[in-house]
Amino acid sequence: MQFDKEKFTVEEITLGEETIRFRAFRNLVYVDRPVNKAYQSMNIFVPEDLYEGKEINGYSLETAPVFMPNTVGGYMPGDLDEPGYDKYKPGIPNTIFKALLHGYVTAAPAVRGRVQRDEEGRYTGKAPACVVDHKAAVRYLHYFSSELPGDEGKIITNGTSAGGALSSLMGSTGNHPDYEPYLEELGAAKAGDEIFAASCYCPITNLDHGDMAYEWQFCGVNDYHRMNMKMEEGGRPSFTPEDGVMSEEQIQVSKELAEQFPSYVNSIGLKDEEGNPLTLEPDGSGSFKRFVEKMVLGSAQKAVNAGMDLSDKSWLAIENGKAVSMDFSGYVKDITRMKTAPAFDDLSLCSPENDLFGNGEVNCRHFTKYAEENSKAGGQMAEDTVIRMMNPMYYIEDDRAEKAKYFRIRHGECDRDTSLAVSAILFAKLREKGCQADYHSPWGIPHAGDYDLDELFAWIDGICK
Ligand code: DHB
Repeated sequence: MQFDKEKFTVEEITLGEETIRFRAFRNLVYVDRPVNKAYQSMNIFVPEDLYEGKEINGYSLETAPVFMPNTVGGYMPGDLDEPGYDKYKPGIPNTIFKALLHGYVTAAPAVRGRVQRDEEGRYTGKAPACVVDHKAAVRYLHYFSSELPGDEGKIITNGTSAGGALSSLMGSTGNHPDYEPYLEELGAAKAGDEIFAASCYCPITNLDHGDMAYEWQFCGVNDYHRMNMKMEEGGRPSFTPEDGVMSEEQIQVSKELAEQFPSYVNSIGLKDEEGNPLTLEPDGSGSFKRFVEKMVLGSAQKAVNAGMDLSDKSWLAIENGKAVSMDFSGYVKDITRMKTAPAFDDLSLCSPENDLFGNGEVNCRHFTKYAEENSKAGGQMAEDTVIRMMNPMYYIEDDRAEKAKYFRIRHGECDRDTSLAVSAILFAKLREKGCQADYHSPWGIPHAGDYDLDELFAWIDGICK
């Protein structure tokens, strides 16, 4: 593992009206004993103006924050990334390009994912590989901080969905000993892996309680609607719609899982802003439900304030320009169910998450007691420690984990990939433990990320200056 500050290229890209000249340090292998060199490396990009002594948005070569976006989706391998056009939004400059324009040093790590294997056919990217790799990349930045551009005390991770979950883990598990043996084995740099702030879009997290949270929200809605994605040759995704109704058995599973959620919520001692307990009655009603409703109402309010007409939302009561109340079941029917029960720990071991929780030899495993007990595939259970290492909730209250000071969580109002409860719980617990957490559920936004970069960058500037 090394960093040679003389080994770089200076490049220039023009996209539309905007041009950025930057210094690129590419393919920096961030561990001494990689198991997959291509996916345990990182690109670092720096606005060349900073090297020429200029300031951008008040940042110099020494003070610029280090923005660290990951490319993880679906818990698949996260590829190395570059400034350029967005892969999924034709004609739109990507986040790295925008971050460089804004004056940030940008460190873009690749990380391993659930489908990778070594030459002997052993899986190498199962949980907790993505977290371990991301931590190793952060350690590299801290280790070489005196030679690297930017302020490594201001590392801000960013990701969407599984990548948002990864960012939330980076923010909540800094330097925790659970990950140490993995980092040691890879020969990660002897430095810390704590970060300054985490930006998390629609984090698919708290996987071991995701099924019950999903059914708490969607139970009673039995029809589902989703797009199935397939990668075509040439790497373009194609989508085919799938609409259906859950089987009697799935409807029963939904009820059983929904019944488990109140005791989970009540066991973690959540509190609201004023310190009042957020709890659920056995029927799923209660202060925590009102807390989630408040998020949706806040979303509607912001939309109304921006001049949107929401009068077609029959589940929403707006009086004198104020979103005053809502019918939760009407809201859920409106956004529709995407996943059948169980949403994550599939009884036949067919979900991306079952695949994530495999190990070197076994491709897919369970990670909830419910699915293990009701498995149709005789599935094994992942180790408790591995399940924990993928869930920030276990670390937020653990003093051995150095938390990021700042979190920004965005979870779209009509996202159905996971329950809004999942991000709301994450937010409430972080705030309770003294982190400055900024939460919003933007109106009409589905499962997506990086759609409000101006606001994201304004938030980063606000906490860095
Ligand atoms: C992602 C989406 C999902 O619905 C899921 O279960 C896991 C990951 C994603 O987009 O990363």
